[in-house]
Amino acid sequence: MNANEIRKKFLDFFEKRGHKIVPSSSLIPDDPSVLLTTAGMQQFKKYYTGEVDPIKDFGTKNAASIQKSFRTSDIDEVGDESHLTFFEMLGNFSFGYKPGEASPKGGYFKKEAIEYGHDFITKEMGLKIDYVSVFEGDKEVPADIESEKIWKSLDKNIVVKKFSREDNFWGPTGSEGPCGPTTEIYVNGVEIWNMVFNEYYCSGGKLEKLKTPGVDTGMGLERLAMIAQNKKNIFETDLFADLGELPAIVDDKIKRIMLDHCRAVVFLVSDGVRPSNKDRGYILRRLIRRAVAHFHKSARGPLGMTGLDFADIENLLVKIIEKYGSFYKELNRDAVLSIFREENDKFRLAINNGTRELKKIGALDATIAFKLYETFGLTFEIIKDFGGEKAEMLRREDFDAELKKHQEKSRAGATAKFGGHGLLLDTGELKAKDEAELKKVTRLHTATHLLQAALRKVLGNEVRQAGSDITAERTRFDFTFSRKLTPEEIKKTEDIVNEVVHKDLPVGFVPMPIEEAKKTGALYFFKGKYPSEVKVYYVGHSLKDAFSKEFCGGPHVNHTLEIGGFKIIKEETVGAGVRRIRAAVL
Ligand code: GLY
Repeated sequence: MNANEIRKKFLDFFEKRGHKIVPSSSLIPDDPSVLLTTAGMQQFKKYYTGEVDPIKDFGTKNAASIQKSFRTSDIDEVGDESHLTFFEMLGNFSFGYKPGEASPKGGYFKKEAIEYGHDFITKEMGLKIDYVSVFEGDKEVPADIESEKIWKSLDKNIVVKKFSREDNFWGPTGSEGPCGPTTEIYVNGVEIWNMVFNEYYCSGGKLEKLKTPGVDTGMGLERLAMIAQNKKNIFETDLFADLGELPAIVDDKIKRIMLDHCRAVVFLVSDGVRPSNKDRGYILRRLIRRAVAHFHKSARGPLGMTGLDFADIENLLVKIIEKYGSFYKELNRDAVLSIFREENDKFRLAINNGTRELKKIGALDATIAFKLYETFGLTFEIIKDFGGEKAEMLRREDFDAELKKHQEKSRAGATAKFGGHGLLLDTGELKAKDEAELKKVTRLHTATHLLQAALRKVLGNEVRQAGSDITAERTRFDFTFSRKLTPEEIKKTEDIVNEVVHKDLPVGFVPMPIEEAKKTGALYFFKGKYPSEVKVYYVGHSLKDAFSKEFCGGPHVNHTLEIGGFKIIKEETVGAGVRRIRAAVL
């Protein structure tokens, strides 16, 4: 039974039993307390609490869905036989059960939920249940004796195991929401279906009884397919096997990471997540960078500045879109390919230099690991994947603690002004007063690089940065030049900048040792004090043929078109041989 048939079987089963089939909600949830959708019930939270009436929306209190879900909590497990970041969750739901109320007004609770589960697994799928589990009870929540009885009534020989809160209590998603004890179905030793009896509302760790209880179930499609198709692991099911081979990669674990991450990237990007340095954008960026790192290492060995053939990885992304596109119409080929390409262009050189550096390092602790992240963009996962024995003792908590320390420091020191082109780090924690200001400052910052390059084209190499100051309103750029500029020179400079803006050139950087960086011809601010390792930011398709290259710490726009338009407002003197230009972006 292939995955498409399983999806259909599941939805048909519940539709026949009076459930409204509801499409998956986006991976970007409505609920601001969670970054990504982690469960099928998330889009239904308000039906459980009675804030919204299911009858009005669905004509029934019962629903079923196949939900796109993403769990970062499992990222370190990906590569084994059954863990994924992105997965599809089959679920049936019932809201506001009132005993005795007839269908369609009435919802259902333990009896029907367990019967449905039992019938679907044993009769529809023809599988044998190993055992089931129920909640054993604790001080706060009583033992679930009723579920045990219901299971036994369906199959008197069934093995019912009793587990504690850690295993058999689910929810809430995010900071608060419905939750409750669970009963779980195990087949071939694998937990495949989790049925939650939402009797409580949890807020701030406190449980309160919901006015009316409900049902929320979740079953991973990949695990069910693994069992139905009699495969040893989820990657042998048609969900992954149909995506073809990754011949350049020999290690099974790495292959699985690539398959999982690329699939997750396709779905995240298609739902509108974009790479950034925080929140869900940062999750996406980590997935892409890890895939990029493994791809390039496996496919080509350490890279120089030569560029590479991108066809294999594009091929995988396209296959994913083709395989899943018939069920998920939202998959967006253009967006996925262009976002992946852009991130690849931006990070592959840095990641390559970083992994080379990682090889050279003798010992690795959280501080050094974080430095690799800051300088080369190596994420925790990449350091673990490529660090070998050196990285064995590195723990995520310690790495995250370093990141937090750094974020707090840069938040405290951040202002809307970036005086001079100091070596600020592009970890995204640089904050102007607010997001809108940061965006403007970033556009002006890249525009300032273009301005310096354009001035040198018009006036010659005498021009060098002598200072700069950027606020959200304007950039103020001081440079060495011995006379007043003519109106034609000003116009020409402005035109050159705007031309580059409209060419929509990519902006990227390469971290490298300072001596090597100087040899690239990149400009640097002569008063600047630079560390031994610097970033060279460049505007163009490669460092070699870049329109502008400078030592810099960012932040910059990804593409020059983001600058919009550029206007020189004023040109004046600020002392012997130093001119000042004030300019704005439109
Ligand atoms: N909401 C039930 C589950 O995710 O397992």
